[in-house]
Amino acid sequence: MRVHRIAAIGADGIGPEVISAGLEVLEALAARDGGFRLEVEHFPWSSEYYLRHGHYIPEGGLEKLKTFDAIFFGAVGSQQVPDHVSLWGLRLPIVQGFDQYANVRPARVLPGVKSPLQNGDKIDWVIIRENSEGEYAGNGGRAHRGLPIEVGTETAVFTRVGVERIHRFAFELARKRPRKHLTLVTKSNAQRYGMVMWDEIFYEVAKDYPDVKTDRELVDAVTTRMVLKPQTLDVVVATNLHADILSDLAAALSGSLGIAPTANLNPERRFPSMFEPIHGSAFDITGKGIANPVATFWTAAMMLEHLGEGAAAHRLMEAVEAVTASGLQTPDLGGKATTAEVTREVCRRIAG
Ligand code: NAI
Ligand code: MG
Repeated sequence: MRVHRIAAIGADGIGPEVISAGLEVLEALAARDGGFRLEVEHFPWSSEYYLRHGHYIPEGGLEKLKTFDAIFFGAVGSQQVPDHVSLWGLRLPIVQGFDQYANVRPARVLPGVKSPLQNGDKIDWVIIRENSEGEYAGNGGRAHRGLPIEVGTETAVFTRVGVERIHRFAFELARKRPRKHLTLVTKSNAQRYGMVMWDEIFYEVAKDYPDVKTDRELVDAVTTRMVLKPQTLDVVVATNLHADILSDLAAALSGSLGIAPTANLNPERRFPSMFEPIHGSAFDITGKGIANPVATFWTAAMMLEHLGEGAAAHRLMEAVEAVTASGLQTPDLGGKATTAEVTREVCRRIAG
């Protein structure tokens, strides 16, 4: 029996609701498969926990997390804590501490889901986000607070190691897809140093992948291409900030933020990788039982894939797609179903 140890961190808002739904389908998959078992440990780290204890991650917490095979994460962010405190308190210490430098964000319009685009069915993208440096390196400062001469800096950091490894990761992934096409997203017309290096290293790495077709697009232009010519994109590699924005657009174009998954990978597997839906805590629907669990199910499928359970991942996506196609959908997709109803139906199809 293969055993996978999962650290579950639901955290804030709808996070615990969708993670609990995700664990339900994972249990159904393990029961159906019979070849693997999940050992799940829940971590109560959240903004509520922070307000009580003064920290998101207790002493020794990251060391403990390190021993797991994967982290299944909900969302962090609360109306009681400034967003930069919650993000840097919980999510970024894991992403950066565990060197999860490759953030993989697939986008596709699932059966029965309506894209706001007329030709939305053409969307079949994977956005690769550099996840360890760039604009979110945390390099900056404030001085003369409150005075007229106050200054704030936020310096993007690009290193040769950081840039080369993300481009190589993107080429490897592009090579495995039928279209073998990789688009470099950049802003090297306006930003002359880090972004120019970003482009140069891309073309150095490209020499090792003659079978992958490439093109280059400025980040502003790529937004119009996503909307007007979605069929011309396949794999996209972009910096931390650029890909953050592009992947929310990708999620909206593929129907809802409620279906978009993501994996924060440490490809060398020196540390556990973290799997989470793209969406946040969604204060407006927290506690109503109507959060769309599909993003978390798709996320769970990516986690299973990473754990070597490809067959279970495939079965899960088949069940999810059958359910979206049947019209059983939560309100964000225009339906009337609850989180529990969608979860129950996915579990039923997994078992059947
Ligand atoms: P959000 O993703 O929480 O919500 C945006 C809109 O999408 C809301 O109308 C929400 O109801 C809807 N939505 C999101 N997920 C949904 C789902 N599964 N089903 C149905 N509808 C869904 O983004 P927002 O409002 O910008 O951020 C709220 C909080 O979440 C903030 O504190 C923010 O910092 C945090 N956040 C955390 C993230 C993370 O943990 N990775 C990512 C994004 C935001
Ligand atoms: Mg984002």
